[in-house]
Amino acid sequence: MQYSHKKLPRITQKMEKIKVSDFGITKNGDQIKKYIVTNKNGMKVEIINYGGIVISLTSPDRKGNYEDVVLGFVNPEDYFNENSYFFGAIIGRFANRIAHGKFSLNGKNFNLNKNNGENHLHGGDQGFFSKIWNAEIIPDSQTIKLSYISKDGEEGYPGQLTTAVFYTLTDQNALEISYEATTDQPTIVNLTHHSYFNLSGNFSREITDHELQLDADQFIPINKSSIPENDFKNVAGTPFDFKNFKTIGKDINDDNEQLQRAKGYDHCWILNGIGMKLSGSLYHPETGRKLDVLTDQPGIQVYSGNFLDGKFETKTGGKNNPRTGICLETQHFPDSPNRNSFPSVELKPGEIYSTKTVYQFSVK
Ligand code: BGC
Repeated sequence: MQYSHKKLPRITQKMEKIKVSDFGITKNGDQIKKYIVTNKNGMKVEIINYGGIVISLTSPDRKGNYEDVVLGFVNPEDYFNENSYFFGAIIGRFANRIAHGKFSLNGKNFNLNKNNGENHLHGGDQGFFSKIWNAEIIPDSQTIKLSYISKDGEEGYPGQLTTAVFYTLTDQNALEISYEATTDQPTIVNLTHHSYFNLSGNFSREITDHELQLDADQFIPINKSSIPENDFKNVAGTPFDFKNFKTIGKDINDDNEQLQRAKGYDHCWILNGIGMKLSGSLYHPETGRKLDVLTDQPGIQVYSGNFLDGKFETKTGGKNNPRTGICLETQHFPDSPNRNSFPSVELKPGEIYSTKTVYQFSVK
C-alpha cells in the first residue's frame, strides 16, 4: 500500500530539559540525586543535591565542540568524603574567612568553627557545601531550586537561616545562580559558588595559559593567614593588575610577598561600580572559550587552585593538581563581620538576602 509521508502521525514529544538520576549514597545512607539540565544548544549542567555541587558543565569551543569545563572528581564518594576543596559547591553561610572564627553582632559575641588554622573558612567543616539540599524542578523551565534550612547555632551562626539557590541554564549558554535567604534573628550571610573552571576541557592542564580580565582598580592584600590587611591596594603596577586581559601565568610566580603568601592568586578584588554588571572574564585562546562573570556583589575572590594537592582523580584522566582550575567567587569581602569599613553582611528578620551571579559562556 502506498502511503503519504504527510499522513504519518506527527511525534510531538516534548524535549525533556531536566532529567534526574541516582548519583551515589552517602556514608549515612542518603541517596543523592543528579539533575541534568540541557539547553536548546545541547549545553549541559549536572547538579547534585549534596552541597548543590555543579559536577559538570559543558561549553562550546570555537569549532562548536561542547566539553566539560569544571573540575570534578571521578568517584562520586569523593564529593561526600573528601571535598575540602569545595569543588563546584554552594558556599555558606559565610564565604571566605572570618578571623579567629569570631565576630560580634548587636553586642553579642559569636564563636564559629575554626576549620582553616585559627580561622573560619567557607561556613565551617560542615558548611553548606556538605549539606543535603531539597531539590525541585521548576516546571516548564531550565531551573533547579535547591533549598536548605540552617538551624540556629549551626556551625556557631545565630538565627535560623532559610536559604534557596536557583540554578538556571539559559538558551544563551549562561548558568545563572540566584541566592535568597531569610532569618528569624539578626545574622550574617555571604553566599557564593565554588566551581574551578578550566576552559581547556582537559583537567590535566594548568589554567596558567588562560587570560583573565577584572573590572577592579583595587584588591585586598592579605596577612600570613590570608586575613585582609588594613588597607586596600591599587592594582596598578602590581601582578594584581587584570584591568586588561592578561595571561594568568604571566606574573603568578613573581617574587611578590602577596603571591607568595597565597602560593599564587587567592585574593579578593574590589569590583568597580555597583549593581549587576560585567565584572570579569576568563578566556582560553587555544579553544576560544570565554566565560564572562556578571554579578551584583561588591567583590570577587580569584583563587588559582594553589592548594590543590594531587591526591584525587579528576575527570579526563587528571589529578587535582595545583592550578588545574580557577575559582571566580563573587562575594562580600572576607572578614566583613569584623570590619566596620566594609559593606555590611548583616541580615535582619524581615529582610530578604537576594543576589545573583551569571556565568556566561561564549567563544572569541
Ligand atoms: C579560598 C582558598 C581556599 C580554597 C579551598 C578558596 O575559596 O580562597 O584560600 O584554600 O577556597 O578550596
